[in-house]
This record gives sequence, structure tokens and C-alpha cells, in this order.
Amino acid sequence: MPDSILHDGKRVTLHRIAGNIGAEIRGLTLSPRLDAEIIQWVWKNVLKYKVVFFREQSLDSLAQEELGKLFGPLVPHPTVTSPKGTNHIFELKAKNGRAANTWHADMTFMASFPKASILRCVKPTPYGGATLWANTANAYRTLPVPLQELAEKLWAIHTNHDYDHTDLIAERDWDFVRWQQNIFASKIFEARHPIVHVHPETGEKCLLLANFIKRISDLNLPDSNTILELFQSYISRPENTVTWYWQAGDIAIWDNRSTQHRATADFGYQERELQRVTLRGDVPVSIRGEHSVQITDGRNNPTILNEGIYSWEQKIPEYIK
Ligand SMILES: [Fe+2]
Repeated sequence: MPDSILHDGKRVTLHRIAGNIGAEIRGLTLSPRLDAEIIQWVWKNVLKYKVVFFREQSLDSLAQEELGKLFGPLVPHPTVTSPKGTNHIFELKAKNGRAANTWHADMTFMASFPKASILRCVKPTPYGGATLWANTANAYRTLPVPLQELAEKLWAIHTNHDYDHTDLIAERDWDFVRWQQNIFASKIFEARHPIVHVHPETGEKCLLLANFIKRISDLNLPDSNTILELFQSYISRPENTVTWYWQAGDIAIWDNRSTQHRATADFGYQERELQRVTLRGDVPVSIRGEHSVQITDGRNNPTILNEGIYSWEQKIPEYIK
């Protein structure tokens, strides 16, 4: 029997869709008017399954913002402005095959990064374009004890500068590269986080890593990269993930403190559009009770790209243009 709750005289049910993360909630129409009981039930399942999905929803941008507020205060992105007519929407519009196809948790370059994100599919791709989530609490649990002990001693610097959303040059959109440097990283934020943090609501120990990381503190760069790769391999192994293929209207709500996610850039040159809101989070705490620290707090980026980038563009072979 699936977990369920009676809401407005109808049975709302929860269905696991992978072994270590992810569940679909059926029979619930999301709206800003949901009562506290059903919001608590959804949130309980977000904490337990890390990401929950809803098909066939019909929220618009403003209703998505209002729904988000039922789970807590929203937090804007520090450098990217919301589309006109909205207050907190972060727009993910893909063209030229580009997508955020590297593992990350949202905005970990902030000391207090979002506790959760809510993503809505505006325009799905006709094929591909799925998003994957991974369970960072389970990744910690499955580390051998000596590696858990090593992870618990380490801290890392996360930054929005020198971060690359896309991992293959063939998928790059050069307007996007400029956007990434000139807008996304127009102001530099850097936070120092423990590699293992204690989840403030579940008490689980979670790995706090991924692609906003610049390096592990106190290690040289090659050692830092080697160790990060080792820990990351426990997060991104297929058994620790769930994949969601988007349909128009779908909503995903995930715990950003116990997961990582990434898109799959396998939809050719189709358009893909999603919209996100993020919920304000606490400053993470290590297993010894030490808090994360904001070490760079929005200073202007001195390496804004100029016209010179066009010369890179000319070097792209014809076949990937
Ligand atoms: Fe993201």
C-alpha cells in the first residue's frame, strides 16, 4: 500500500520511483491555497525521499511563487534578475543544446544556500532533456568508514566564479558563456562549507560537494581534484540517483541540502524551458558544530568578458555550430 493522505475528500498517494531517492505524488492539484496539513505531508516526503514530483499541474509563474511561500520564505538569486512581472522566478531557458549538465546543488556559493528548490516545466523537449537528482545523505552513508572520517575533517570553497554549467564544448552556446561570466558571475560570492554537514531537520550527515567547488581547503589543486572525484563518485553512481523526464506543467520539489542535481543535454537544438523558485536556507553546520562562512560577499568581478570572446567563437568547428 502506498503512503497516502485524505485531502478534500480525495486520496493523495505517494509512489517511490527509485530505490534510494525520489517519489511521485499523485492525486493532488498544487495551488497557493493548499492547507497546512497537506503542505506538511508534502514536506515530510520531501525530507524523506529528497525529491518529489507532480504530473499534470497548471501553475503559472506567480502561482509557483505563491506555492513556494507555503514552504517558507523565498530567496532571490544574488546576480540573476527575475523575468518581468515576477519577483523570485529563476528562468532556465535552453537553446543550442545547452543545459546545466554538471552535478550541483543550487547556490552553494552562498553560506546560507537554499533549503529547497521548486522547478516547473514550461516547455519540455520532445526527447531527452531529463533531470537527475542524487542523494547526498545516502552517499555519505555508503562511504567506507575511513573515507567518512576523512570527509568529516575537510572543508571546501564554493564559488559562482569559474563555474561551468556545461561539460562539453559541443553543447556550448557562446551567448550563454558570456551570460555566465557577465551576469551569473558579475559579482563574486565564495563560501567555505564543511564537506560533511548535519541536516538541520533530519539530522542526517550529508556530503556537500559538486561543481560550485573551487577546491578543498588546505590541499593543493591536484590532490583536491582527486579527492573530490572520489567522494563525488559515491554521489553520482546510478543506484544513488533518480531521473525525471519532463512533461509540460510538471513540478519537482527537492531538498537542496541533501541532494545534487543535473540536466541531461541530449535534446539537440530543441528549446527547453523551466522556471525555479528557491526557499531560504540556514547556514550549514559541520559534525563538530562549526558553521559555514561567507568569505567573498559580492565584490565586482574584474574579469568580465569583452568582445575578445568572439575570437573563440570563430574557432568552433563548423560541424558543431
Ligand atoms: Fe540547479
